[in-house]
Amino acid sequence: MQGGSKPCLFLCDDGRYYVVKSRSNPQHVRVLANEMLAARVAQLIGLPVAEPAFVEITNEWEPRAEAGGVGVKGAGFAAGLHFGSRYPGNPEDTLVTDILPDPLLRRVRNFREAFWGAFLFDKWTCNCDVRQFVFYHSAMEKGSPYSACLIDNGFCFNDGDWSFPDAILLNFYSRRWVYEGVCGLQSFEPFLTRIENLRSSEVDACLQGIPPEWCGSEPGELSRLAEALYARRQGLSQAIIDVKNSAQRPFPNWR
Ligand SMILES: Nc1ncnc2c1ncn2[C@@H]1O[C@H](COP(=O)(O)OP(=O)(O)OP(=O)(O)O)[C@@H](O)[C@H]1O
Ligand SMILES: [Mg+2]
Repeated sequence: MQGGSKPCLFLCDDGRYYVVKSRSNPQHVRVLANEMLAARVAQLIGLPVAEPAFVEITNEWEPRAEAGGVGVKGAGFAAGLHFGSRYPGNPEDTLVTDILPDPLLRRVRNFREAFWGAFLFDKWTCNCDVRQFVFYHSAMEKGSPYSACLIDNGFCFNDGDWSFPDAILLNFYSRRWVYEGVCGLQSFEPFLTRIENLRSSEVDACLQGIPPEWCGSEPGELSRLAEALYARRQGLSQAIIDVKNSAQRPFPNWR
């Protein structure tokens, strides 16, 4: 696949496809911990996020030459656990794209959940990268609307820093008109209330199984990250109002 972390598409032995980021990716090892924690928390509040998985690569695996994968072996996918982001469906019968032209973007099936929900989520988790989605539909259903799925959450929590350098202008999707329909805090429901009502034990449960080797030199910081994320819930409404009041007026129809 494209991407700074040099992810690759794997067919795994559960019969599903995953876009896999390696522990030794050229970005940061914590990108894997970030991906897992962020996707689990996104699932917890009901956002349409690509399902996260631990992908175990064994010594025996061989890249599929017909998929152009011959160069992949030795490219950082050593035996052990790596992060997988579930590919929506099967590449043979599902159309998947990173970008849609505006007329198709307007028709996205889960438009509100995807764009407005992701904005709220990225504010909360302080995603320091641009928001990315993949859009997909079955190749059999020509002309049917695409669905959106959040991907690339590796720079939530400020990449390998595990800090929250809030900035008003972060987190907008590249097509700003997607926020034209936002008319108040209620536009971010039910996600806002779900985040505010989370229990700390639910956030802690999202850490389960994350290997210490995904956390860099101080794996103990992972539980502090979860605590900080939990504590940020209560400032989220105000953070959205601050964005609304900013000079950019990103929500022109807020009433
Ligand atoms: N779950 C998924 N399903 C389908 N395609 C995916 C999925 N996850 C990632 N991709 C594809 O792989 C590409 C790279 O993934 P991603 O953006 O997560 O990697 P990255 O290395 O973090 O990229 P960046 O250069 O943005 O930091 C995406 O642009 C998308 O095309
Ligand atoms: Mg990316």
